[in-house]
Formats: sequence, C-alpha cells, structure tokens
Amino acid sequence: MTIHAVEFYSGIGGLHKALDTSSVSGSVIRAYDWDQSACQVYDANYGKGIVKKADISKLTATELAELDAKLWLLSPSCQPYTVLNPEAKGATDPRAKSFIHLMHNVLPELVSMKRHPSHLLVENVAGFETSTTRQDLLQILHELGYSICELLLTPLQFGIPNSRLRYYLLAKSDRRPFPLVPHCQKVCRHIPGRGVDWENTRMQPEDEDSSIREIREYIDDDLSEDDIHLYSVPDRVLEKWGRLFDIILPSSCRSCCFTRGYTKMVERSGSVLQMNETLDTTVVFDTFLKRQQVGDPSAIRILDDLKLRYFTPDELLRLFCFEPVGSRGNERQGFVWPSAVSIKTRYKLIGNSVNVRIVKELIEYLFEE
Ligand SMILES: C[S@@+](CC[C@H](N)C(=O)[O-])C[C@H]1O[C@@H](n2cnc3c(N)ncnc32)[C@H](O)[C@@H]1O
Repeated sequence: MTIHAVEFYSGIGGLHKALDTSSVSGSVIRAYDWDQSACQVYDANYGKGIVKKADISKLTATELAELDAKLWLLSPSCQPYTVLNPEAKGATDPRAKSFIHLMHNVLPELVSMKRHPSHLLVENVAGFETSTTRQDLLQILHELGYSICELLLTPLQFGIPNSRLRYYLLAKSDRRPFPLVPHCQKVCRHIPGRGVDWENTRMQPEDEDSSIREIREYIDDDLSEDDIHLYSVPDRVLEKWGRLFDIILPSSCRSCCFTRGYTKMVERSGSVLQMNETLDTTVVFDTFLKRQQVGDPSAIRILDDLKLRYFTPDELLRLFCFEPVGSRGNERQGFVWPSAVSIKTRYKLIGNSVNVRIVKELIEYLFEE
C-alpha cells in the first residue's frame, strides 16, 4: 500500500526526493511553502499541483484531515535556532510560529479526529536540540501517544565529503517502538543498527579517512570558459576577504556546510574550490598578502594560478545527493532549474535544503518494524 505524505516547508523538495529514492512505497500528495521560487522549482521537478504556495501558520486541521496523510515530513525554518545567528530567539522568533501552530493546535485536533499522521520526520539545525521548541515538541508528541527517536547526523558519516550536522526527530503513533535504540542515549549519533557514531576526524590527515569520497567525484572538471568565468571568485572579494575562505582541493574529503548565503558571504557559508592542485594555498596567499601590503596594485594576479572558483549549483545538488555522484550532462537524472530562477536564488534554495541520502536512510528506519 502506498503511504501518502505531506511535505511542510518543502523548498526544493529534498524530503520528497528522499521518499522517492527510499525503499518505502510512498508518495507526496501535498507540499506547502510560501516562497514563490521554491514553488516554481518544486513544480518543475515533481509535477504541477502538488505544492501549494501557502503560509503554514494558517493551515487548519480540517484542511489537513481531508488529505488523510499517514506521513508528515517537516523541515521548518532553521534561523530561530541556528548557532550562526547570535540573535536567534528560538520559540519567540516569528519564524518559529508556524511550526508551533502545527504542533500545538493542528496535530492535537487531528488526533482527536483520528486523522493524524502515523509517522513524522522533522529536520532542523544542530542546536534545535537545546531549544524550548524541542522540549515543547517532545511533550506534545508524548502526550499524543507518539514514540520518539532523535538524532544528530552529518553527511560525513555516510561517506559524503560535506559537513552538515543536522537534528532529526522521528515519531510513530501508538507508542510503537523504534528498533535498536540504545537505552542510555537521548540523541543518537548514528541510525540505530546502521553504522557507528560519528567522530570528528577533521584534525586527522585526510588520507586517513578513506571511507569518505573525494570532492572530485562531485565536481565538473570540464566547465566551459563562460562557466569558469561565471563561477570564479571576483577580484574585489578575494582582495578584501580572500584569506577568510575555506579553500579545498578536488582531492579533499571534506567541505564546509553550505548555507543560503553561499557566494554572498565569505565566512562559514561554504567552501571554495582550488582547481590547481599543484600549488600550496598558504604559500601563494602569503606571497599575495605581502605584495598587497606594500601596495602592489597587481598583487591580486598572484592568486590567478590557484584557479579559485565557487561550486556550481549542480555540483552542490550532487553533494546534497539530489543527483547521483558522477552524473554529467545527459547522464543527469534531471533535476530541473526553471530558467526564471536566478543563480543567486538557486544557491539560496540549495543552502536551505537537506542531504537527501540521510533523509532517505531515516525514512527507511522510520518504517522499519
Ligand atoms: C529550511 S527550508 C526547507 C527546505 C526544504 N526541506 C528543501 O529540501 O529545500 C524552510 C522552508 O520553509 C519555508 N517557510 C518558512 N516559513 C514558512 C511558512 N510560515 N509557511 C510556508 N513556508 C514557510 C521557506 O520558504 C523555506 O523554503
């Protein structure tokens, strides 16, 4: 029997893609997002009529009861909880309102109507686990008879060279148990029965961790001259902020977390690629900085040899497992960007999205008996 799902905060449909690629027989029958571009991309990739442009804080139990969906997939706004935001206000942030409405008002009403979802998956930033919203959520789900499994997972532990530590909550109605959950652990650091806890190996030499693929498998080494120009890091950015970039090589087995600010912000928004692997980044940067300090107007040209560029949106899609590793040109499984969606918006939408592989594994675990 096909499980019907509703995807809240659907963005570019990472949770939809994860359900489609999982072994669970399910289909997203309705998605909600209020962002015009996100809905345009969603329509183009999953078919028209599924996503509805709507404010989730206005949804009612009656409307959702009609859908009678057994699976809810939710990835609410991260900004109220993100550690990168010093002004993050948690539950009092207006952006947290719609999720609180769903959990406080809508879900209990659906339970009383006996039209509630039997399974839920919530995704948010690491940091959510210390918020009062999480405490409220646990209490509500507990009172409504759901069993819960919480996890903190990063793509690195799935062999994907990208760090993106995220909080996940899985819930099942009727207090059905989750298999293999260790008793003493509050938040699991791996999916029970699959893999082991993640340990940060960032301080170890990269070649010691052969379980992680190289970045080169995810990137296009045959970009056209136009694209190289389009994705190269502008001189003015390098001159002012160059030393703050996280620069990685195609042979690297890691990259920083890519955020919605990628290419707009420098620090902690994602890594940039040094396509020339023969040069030592530090040596070249030191030479550049010395020449810059003595006022050499052509100092910036020293960095040309590094061939620094941003990841393209399609490369990020591969890293986020929307597309298979190594898929190129015609082999692409066909994630579509409507031409009206600018490159800047594509970066914003991907930066907001999820790692599809992790969610796929979680959906399979959620339905494991
Ligand atoms: C963290 S992103 C989720 C991204 C999505 N999982 C994906 O794979 O792209 C949050 C999304 O929620 C949407 N959103 C935030 N608040 C909303 C609200 N009140 N109603 C509808 N959509 C909302 C944003 O537009 C954004 O696309």
